[in-house]
Amino acid sequence: MPALPIPPLAELRLRRSAKWRTFPDDVLPLPVAEMDFPLAEPVARALRAAIDRSDTGYAAPTPDLANAVSGYARRAWDWTIDPDQVRTVADVGIGIVEILRRVVAPGDGVVISPPVYEPFAWWIREVGAHVVEAPLAGQPGAWRLDLDALERAFAGHATAYVLCNPHNPVGLVHPREDLVALAELADRHGVHVLSDEIHAPLVLPGAEFVPFLSVSDEARRWGFAFLSASKGWNLAGLKAAAVITADPAPKRYVDRLSPHSLYRTGHLGVLATVAAFTEGDPWLADVVDVLDHNRNLLGESLARSLPEVGYVRPDAGFLAWLDFRTLGWGDDPAARILATAKVALNSGHRYGSTGAGFARLNFGCAPQTLTEAVARIAAIR
Ligand SMILES: Cc1ncc(COP(=O)(O)O)c(C=O)c1O
Repeated sequence: MPALPIPPLAELRLRRSAKWRTFPDDVLPLPVAEMDFPLAEPVARALRAAIDRSDTGYAAPTPDLANAVSGYARRAWDWTIDPDQVRTVADVGIGIVEILRRVVAPGDGVVISPPVYEPFAWWIREVGAHVVEAPLAGQPGAWRLDLDALERAFAGHATAYVLCNPHNPVGLVHPREDLVALAELADRHGVHVLSDEIHAPLVLPGAEFVPFLSVSDEARRWGFAFLSASKGWNLAGLKAAAVITADPAPKRYVDRLSPHSLYRTGHLGVLATVAAFTEGDPWLADVVDVLDHNRNLLGESLARSLPEVGYVRPDAGFLAWLDFRTLGWGDDPAARILATAKVALNSGHRYGSTGAGFARLNFGCAPQTLTEAVARIAAIR
């Protein structure tokens, strides 16, 4: 494992972000999707330079972010993005909500595949649409998109699908053939696909990320991709993300976003995102090494101290989906674990109907924090 200097807990507790202010100091906070690593130096440099210039005004209408995102996509995934089809927005959530507002009418169905990132359902309800579930197929370890369930949902008057690619919380990196089949279904039924690719820079060794818009003409005709440096480089509070299209049809919807969307984006977020996507590869490689180490360490620690807990190594990101059902801790094991083990996890039942009995753990932390969390949970069993 490389020497990525991870601050001790006492220092992390000085951070003022949600992860460190939501729980008292005796709780190990492993829910909110922030990582505990120090900022990438090129990002820190860009931010320090901006502060030194008192450069805290509005984001400027420059092509910098579009060029940085497309340069990264070419290097990382051999994916060609036209910078003219990149639109800057404040965050992925706002990007998805604003596109949904334009492609669905109130009362329409929007499909998701639980267990999936909880706010997808909030965003769909925010635009007055209703959530249609087409759960992932299979069992832990063999998760896949359920193409039959998606076909039924698309045929039942859904107008959009929010794809999580890679899929939070199970860490599934969708195989190309599933994305091709999904695009065919979308084309057949006239369903817009909003592909949330926020975790894509954190695909771990052994897996290969496939950008949805790269798979076929159908995908490009119906697809929108959402990228940001906020997970990969831990910049969530700075507020900058990109909506990407690759065909005139979806671009028409993006063109209808408010001309003010750029000014609603964080200027520091744009500066940091440009630094991350242009100069952040070495730091990201170190983070990926730590996450790779941690996903193995988590598996070993659970096998040793909590063998009843089901865990399948995720292929992407820093989130683990833990199955507590055989322990008989009820639908919300995270509540019991917080109260008695003083470890904060996310409650699985919030990730859709299939999440009862599960909890999500953030392993974007020091290895010692991870082993301490497992030890605390094992002690209450
Ligand atoms: C799949 C997914 N999408 C979106 C977000 C939130 O992104 P943003 O803060 O850019 O809205 C997260 C945060 O964890 C996420 O996991």
